[in-house]
Amino acid sequence: MKKPGEVFEDASVYDPGIEAIVPRYDELHDAILNSPPNDRNDPVNVLELGAGTGELTTKLLTRFPKSTVFAVDHSEQMLDEAERKLETFGDRATLDCGAFPDDYPAAEDEYDLVVSSLAVHHLDVTQKQTLFDAIYESLTPGGWFINGDVIRFDAPHLETLSGEMIENWVRSKGWQEEDFMDEWQASDDYDDPSTLTDQLVWLRETGFESVTSIWQYYNFAVYGGKKPE
Ligand SMILES: C[S@@+](CC[C@H](N)C(=O)[O-])C[C@H]1O[C@@H](n2cnc3c(N)ncnc32)[C@H](O)[C@@H]1O
Repeated sequence: MKKPGEVFEDASVYDPGIEAIVPRYDELHDAILNSPPNDRNDPVNVLELGAGTGELTTKLLTRFPKSTVFAVDHSEQMLDEAERKLETFGDRATLDCGAFPDDYPAAEDEYDLVVSSLAVHHLDVTQKQTLFDAIYESLTPGGWFINGDVIRFDAPHLETLSGEMIENWVRSKGWQEEDFMDEWQASDDYDDPSTLTDQLVWLRETGFESVTSIWQYYNFAVYGGKKPE
């Protein structure tokens, strides 16, 4: 049985598959990596939540050549893919198997940056709020949390519009959505996205400042905030 967020039965098809069903996947990652204030040559200590096959991890380690990343995920098969991909970065990348918000983040004042991509929307409201509190604790003063994720609209016609946009995207890749999902053994039965506004409010309530949305394409958004200095 699949774990929340694995999307495909077989993790080895995740990389080509996710680009076919998540519009502007690379642009979303770019927005995450462009958002923190850190300079390219800063020795940034990063926690990544839901690293999956290590796509964002790879881009992050490349973008910040002196960074180190502690990348966590609850899926062993996704982490196996990530391990192969990240080998080239040696001890700059550490992978760990476990589930947030129960297992992570455990540290206090440790990370300069916490990032996540397409993972937090698998948590329910209480878990998201618990996670935001734990992320806040784990950041060093001045550190940022940036999340690129699926969001929900509080308006049915915008939810319909987002669904149609995704169907069109999949079609532009040469598939009918249903055929794609069947043939690639894909589904995500565990989605529980929250509205962008709610998540920004929860971040503010947690204590984050400079809370903001940075990028949005229909029901995909990049947002975050800073722990005060
Ligand atoms: C859709 S994938 C995204 C992977 C990667 N971040 C990317 O941008 O392609 C979501 C990942 O989050 C992981 N995940 C979802 N919920 C999780 C949780 N509560 N704890 C740990 N990992 C989780 C899944 O196993 C999966 O690898």
